[in-house]
Amino acid sequence: MKFFVDTADVTEIKELEDVGLLDGVTTNPSLIAKSGRPFLDVVAEICDIVEGPVSAEVTAPDFETMMKEAAVLRNIADNVAIKVPMTRDGIKTCKHLSDDGCQVNVTLVFSAAQALLAAKAGAAFVSPFIGRLDDIAQDGMSLIEDIVEIYANYPDLQTEVLAASIRGPLHVVQAAQAGADVSTVPAKALWQLFNHPLTDKGLAAFEADWAKTGQSIL
Ligand code: E4P
Repeated sequence: MKFFVDTADVTEIKELEDVGLLDGVTTNPSLIAKSGRPFLDVVAEICDIVEGPVSAEVTAPDFETMMKEAAVLRNIADNVAIKVPMTRDGIKTCKHLSDDGCQVNVTLVFSAAQALLAAKAGAAFVSPFIGRLDDIAQDGMSLIEDIVEIYANYPDLQTEVLAASIRGPLHVVQAAQAGADVSTVPAKALWQLFNHPLTDKGLAAFEADWAKTGQSIL
């Protein structure tokens, strides 16, 4: 499974990229607002750091303006993936951009029916929002399972299932078990994947025993 980080914070992205963990980045208007920085500058900076797809979201509600915004965003770098909302105009934009060779990420997906439409429109990524479904007492992970199962019926389909709105390490593990192609994860949750108390305990014991030997490898 590929790891994307879900952030517009360039410092967080650099830290993860440095460890070699990052396959891509997703942003959204809320994350851009949180960064407090100009949208186009942030996207350009992220694209310089990360080789993989960097999702940048259009903000207009209508097809014509979405296409104009997408043209501006695509111009920033070759690895920009245009994020469009799961609406009629969003899907129409997805179809046009995909036909033109552009990677499109269809966002705000909450049903298998919507995921079918995104795939039909040639999306490179479909983003089902697990956490927001869990928030309203619906099972977000079962949506991932459903979409993976449906897409598997059509081996020629190129759309990757991108598990989004992930809230913690367990979501990442369960998305991998369900067969999601990608998880987009807040930086904090990606770092939490490292943690296990037995790793810490074992390392402390190894360090203490090694010190007793008085040896040095270098
Ligand atoms: C995906 O691309 C979205 O940016 C993101 O995963 C939304 O997550 P949230 O529900 O935590 O805002």
